[in-house]
Amino acid sequence: MLYLSIIYVFVFCIIAKVFCDEFNLSGDAGQAYALKINIGHPPQTLSVLVDTGSTTLAIASYPRKESNIYFQSGNSSSVYHKGKEVQAKYSQGTWVGQLVSDFVQFPSLSNVPEVRTDIALITKSHKFFMNGSGWQGLLGLAYLPVGAWGENVIVGSWLDSLEKYLDKPVSFELKLCGTLSQTNSTHYGVFKMLDTFPEESNIFKTPILQKRWYEVGVLSVRLLNSSENNSSDSSDINKDNCVKLNEEKSIVDSGTTNIRLPDSVFRQVVDQLRHSAQASNNLILDEFWYHGEAGCWPEPQDWSLPSLAIDLLSTEADNSYFTLEIPAQNFMRVVSAHNNSRGSGSVSEFCYKLGLEAGGKETVLGYTAMEGLQVLFNRSGGWIGWRPSDCGSKTKITGPFNISSSLSSLCQLTKPVPDVAESIKAAQWILCAISIIAVAVVIYLLAPGIKVLLIRPLPRSQQISLSQAALVQQET
Ligand SMILES: *[C@@H]1O[C@H](CO)[C@@H](O)[C@H](O)[C@H]1NC(C)=O
Ligand SMILES: *[C@@H]1O[C@H](CO)[C@@H](O)[C@H](O)[C@H]1NC(C)=O
Ligand SMILES: *[C@@H]1O[C@H](CO)[C@@H](O)[C@H](O)[C@H]1NC(C)=O
Ligand SMILES: *[C@@H]1O[C@H](CO)[C@@H](O)[C@H](O)[C@H]1NC(C)=O
Ligand SMILES: *[C@@H]1O[C@H](CO)[C@@H](O)[C@H](O)[C@H]1NC(C)=O
Ligand SMILES: *[C@@H]1O[C@H](CO)[C@@H](O)[C@H](O)[C@H]1NC(C)=O
Ligand SMILES: *[C@@H]1O[C@H](CO)[C@@H](O)[C@H](O)[C@H]1NC(C)=O
Ligand SMILES: *[C@@H]1O[C@H](CO)[C@@H](O)[C@H](O)[C@H]1NC(C)=O
Repeated sequence: MLYLSIIYVFVFCIIAKVFCDEFNLSGDAGQAYALKINIGHPPQTLSVLVDTGSTTLAIASYPRKESNIYFQSGNSSSVYHKGKEVQAKYSQGTWVGQLVSDFVQFPSLSNVPEVRTDIALITKSHKFFMNGSGWQGLLGLAYLPVGAWGENVIVGSWLDSLEKYLDKPVSFELKLCGTLSQTNSTHYGVFKMLDTFPEESNIFKTPILQKRWYEVGVLSVRLLNSSENNSSDSSDINKDNCVKLNEEKSIVDSGTTNIRLPDSVFRQVVDQLRHSAQASNNLILDEFWYHGEAGCWPEPQDWSLPSLAIDLLSTEADNSYFTLEIPAQNFMRVVSAHNNSRGSGSVSEFCYKLGLEAGGKETVLGYTAMEGLQVLFNRSGGWIGWRPSDCGSKTKITGPFNISSSLSSLCQLTKPVPDVAESIKAAQWILCAISIIAVAVVIYLLAPGIKVLLIRPLPRSQQISLSQAALVQQET
């Protein structure tokens, strides 16, 4: 008996270890996936959302109504205050903070070295931490042009600091698994850094069209009829829709929950879904479909609804695309799950929300579009790779499919632009030249004051801020 329990304990430890090692991301329903981070010396452990929709590492530095966990910079011996105020605006919420730099490391990523990086210490926020009792900040993973903004300063990103330290490009992969059981709405996933990737594996790549957010070519978002065999053909790509989908931008954003679509595309897809649900005698109110309200049932639901197909431009050729087939399990999102069969009194309740929303002109593939897949963000290679995952829903990928004409011109896609780093450098050169001319003019005009001007260092930081003002395109 003793032996048996020792064996049980042993096996349990191994399983627990495997699982603990495996999942390093988790989050409550409706909140994105959070990762543990160590900041400063001695390290303070906090949770940050992994966000491919922004660039800056931003951390709460004051106690809030919903949580008194925050970074205490006074306790870190390695923190360096830059004396600059920075701010950011998200599609929902804003914050203002102080720019510092400090050492950052991730307890679950033992192969990733500790690096010093810029951190925005949030001192004031509006509608930002609202649902954030499980996390204290954001780990932005996008490109520099969409970083936090401050006068006379460029806020560096953790990924750039890491690349500089390692002196080589790095890529990262998100494996988002969704919930693990029908009775617990907490979701889990894995965040991994990679520098090489087996070339032969079955991966579908879409080009990053512009390196600000992760901007990709979304060619169509439609429902798949389960009765048909999924034989795609060119009729899947509808010119009007694909122009609409990419009119402003289409981004892959792990910090957003839903799949956000331009209004008219949303309407088409949801109308079809609603009909399909009616046809299978699933009576769901319009408030659920069109107004983001939750629908609740006494038992967990197995949805017999069509899958959502998302067609993405392929790196293979300009006339080639592949299709993500997102099952209903993803977009009928569990928001709460309570099994009270055993308890007396309260009833069991399983609530869902639609994982699609109308978003004006832009398209956002939130984490609802990534669950059940492994998504590799190759920043330097300029592509995002998608492959099926061994966890989560049965999301499929099919393709590649070819059409006879160019998808970029059919859908009026942005042509991939030269590297951001290059354009920032170029902008700095131009500004440098301008300021030299300006200084010359000033010297000429203020000849008596020459000495004063020459001993003062040139306002270097100002050049940077000007170039950034030209390049930063804040989310409207
Ligand atoms: C955050 O909470 C507010 C109020 O409780 C709610 O209206 C909003 O939908 C929530 N946002 C998310 C992303 O869950
Ligand atoms: C920071 O320092 C204060 C005072 O020394 C201490 O009370 C507090 O627990 C420390 N906080 C952390 C996170 O170490
Ligand atoms: C779900 O599971 C996690 C960890 O296993 C636990 O901390 C959490 O309380 C559970 N949530 C519910 C609603 O049971
Ligand atoms: C699916 O099939 C039904 C009936 O055959 C049809 O009315 C509907 O338009 C089809 N939907 C799609 C997305 O092809
Ligand atoms: C769908 O595919 C299956 C096997 O792959 C085949 O047996 C069946 O005839 C196909 N149905 C149609 C409508 O093409
Ligand atoms: C809820 O709990 C009851 C009693 O423990 C169990 O029989 C039932 O399978 C549970 N339901 C789900 C969906 O797990
Ligand atoms: C990133 O892309 C480049 C060019 O396509 C490739 O050489 C490199 O191996 C890729 N890195 C990863 C981790 O896949
Ligand atoms: C699609 O086009 C590419 C390049 O033009 C070609 O290499 C590939 O074989 C084509 N695939 C199919 C399925 O026709």
